[in-house]
Amino acid sequence: MAERTPRLAVLASGRGSNLQAMLDAIADGRLDARVAGVFGDRAKAHALQRARDAGIEAGALRPRDYAGRDEFDAALFARVAAVQPDLVVCAGYMRLLGAAALAPWAGRIINIHPSLLPDFKGLDTHARALAAGVAEHGASVHYVTADLDGGPVIAQARVPVHDGDDAEALAARVLDTEHPLLVGSLQLLCAGRITLRDDAVELDGRPLGAPLQLAANRLLS
Ligand code: GRF
Repeated sequence: MAERTPRLAVLASGRGSNLQAMLDAIADGRLDARVAGVFGDRAKAHALQRARDAGIEAGALRPRDYAGRDEFDAALFARVAAVQPDLVVCAGYMRLLGAAALAPWAGRIINIHPSLLPDFKGLDTHARALAAGVAEHGASVHYVTADLDGGPVIAQARVPVHDGDDAEALAARVLDTEHPLLVGSLQLLCAGRITLRDDAVELDGRPLGAPLQLAANRLLS
């Protein structure tokens, strides 16, 4: 990544707690990065307000103003490109991204997803994990490709599923781990230690045999 402080663009559709975790980590010196812009598809998303509160450019585009997904994505990524990010972070961005828009950003766009990928791609991951009766659930940070939630996984955080959990309780337990998982992943990405080469995640120039794992709020290989 760049010699200067890495610039991040964030895509978000909702609450923005992962964005806030990034902003907090930057503010207290745990993450050497700058959020240069926050963009999304919902004007009312709390994430956009969090960005503005931090003095960061933020804006939403309305999907219905565009002829289709490709046109929307092109306009969205024009906003993203204008803030010249080194890395794009999808943090609760709820729309599919098309292959054409993603192509120029290959290896420079990541997502946080609330499951242990490749399990439970897509929506409603916590309810589906409970219905499947898994003993363990969690979250993943992965490179974004046109294959929904299918790009190479960088890091994961695991949590136990408890007897009596409902989707809300499980979601809260997972979310607690998402914030250190995302910040830890960004620390490595922004330091240039994590890279993507030939569809494989590398740490310090060596292929990762398996995703990094969050333990006691640190990422371990
Ligand atoms: C998180 O669970 C994230 O994994 C998923 O959407 C949720 C966003 O939460 N992609 P927040 O908006 O960051 O609070």
